[in-house]
Amino acid sequence: MNSYQGKTYHVVTYGCQMNVHESEKIRGVLSRLGMNEIDDIESADVVVFNTCCIREGAEDRAYNNVMALRPIKEKNPEKIIILCGCMPQQKEGKYKLKERLPFVDIIIGTHNVNQLDQYLLKYAINRERIYDIIEKPIGSLDNNNCIRDDKLNAYVNIIYGCNKFCTYCIVPYVRGREKSRTAQDIYNEVKDLVQNQGYKYITLLGQNVNSYGKDLKDKMSFSELLTYLCTIEGDFKIKFMTSHPMDLGDDLIKVMKKEDKVAKALHLPVQSGSSRILAKMNRHYDIKHYMSIIKKLKHAIPNIALSTDIIVGFPGETEKDFNQTLKLLKKVKYDQVFAFMYSKRTGTPAATFEGQIDDKEKNIRLNKLLRLQKLIQKDQIKKYFNKTYDCLIRHINGVAVGITDGGKEVYIPNYKYVNQNYFAKVKIENIRNHKLSGVIK
Ligand code: 5AD
Ligand code: SF4
Repeated sequence: MNSYQGKTYHVVTYGCQMNVHESEKIRGVLSRLGMNEIDDIESADVVVFNTCCIREGAEDRAYNNVMALRPIKEKNPEKIIILCGCMPQQKEGKYKLKERLPFVDIIIGTHNVNQLDQYLLKYAINRERIYDIIEKPIGSLDNNNCIRDDKLNAYVNIIYGCNKFCTYCIVPYVRGREKSRTAQDIYNEVKDLVQNQGYKYITLLGQNVNSYGKDLKDKMSFSELLTYLCTIEGDFKIKFMTSHPMDLGDDLIKVMKKEDKVAKALHLPVQSGSSRILAKMNRHYDIKHYMSIIKKLKHAIPNIALSTDIIVGFPGETEKDFNQTLKLLKKVKYDQVFAFMYSKRTGTPAATFEGQIDDKEKNIRLNKLLRLQKLIQKDQIKKYFNKTYDCLIRHINGVAVGITDGGKEVYIPNYKYVNQNYFAKVKIENIRNHKLSGVIK
């Protein structure tokens, strides 16, 4: 019995899938203290803000939302507010959180969030504010019976941290160096998710999954890990993110092609279409190399769904560089593009680069790029005609729908379904109003 038994909690998450999954683990920790999750942030006894600092906007949003709780905390001093994750882990963050958020009771970083229950128990005894940012990870949150958001797709961490140091990116500073989980640990988790919990998709997570295993005593490459996980019996698919073009080898393309259980979808951030800018970003590849990977992928897996990340307005990006990015989009024809305006992150090399571009110009470039990509995606729909895709069959609003690995919905009229949530081949026979329909083969 502890003083949190029967109390309520609410977790607010900012940022990437890694953070979303970390929050699932935090919910597991809080539930094991005997607490119940509720939707209402204002009445929850404990509120956790799991933060992100990849761009300024993410930080501003988190800061403003924490500030909005101040009057509630003043009315109810018993309420416990916790801030954790990437934002407090920064050495020179925009916000001086310790001083500017005096009403926040517990502030911890990325490396000690796994001790959250210990901090809460300590706080219950002393009622003293806790501010603890440490530089090296201790233990991990793995195998913690997390409470997952989704019933179909489960996130599984395979590697933490990043060694790449792209010049714009704060991640290596707040998440530390690469640290892989053992293949056996990952295998056991995936097997349980698929065979005991009925998950259909497993999404393997890492800042750079292609670096997997380099730091392990029993070395194993990412493609070997995939092959190993595909030996797990069951009707499921494996997705993964994020891949780095520099580390993506032919071995991975081979495994993606060969293994039915590996989804035919790849998120491969290019960041810029200009080799000059890529060099300044410290990405370790040029456009020629990137395009050679895309070519090999499309050749080996014609149905592959490709997505990417792009940064517009990196310091020194000229009209010419930007146009090269537009040209790249036209060439690759991604199924999805996540584009961001460059955001200056204090402590990263690019923050001090000359040629910083003003927000207005970045905005113009971003909108131009998004408009182009919208047209490309509209046009891309044609490629589905008469092709057969491996789909997850679901019932949506009483209709049978197949979901491709890239997330496209294919309506299956005239299908007398008996069950759902299984994989089947679907041939697309019709495209009307940008909607696909087809038949199960
Ligand atoms: N500014 C804008 N976008 C960034 N990203 C990373 N750092 C920054 C930054 N400083 C983007 C990259 C990365 C994605 C997760 O976020 O495109 O792939
Ligand atoms: Fe950031 Fe680059 Fe590492 Fe991705 S690979 S997390 S962009 S430093």
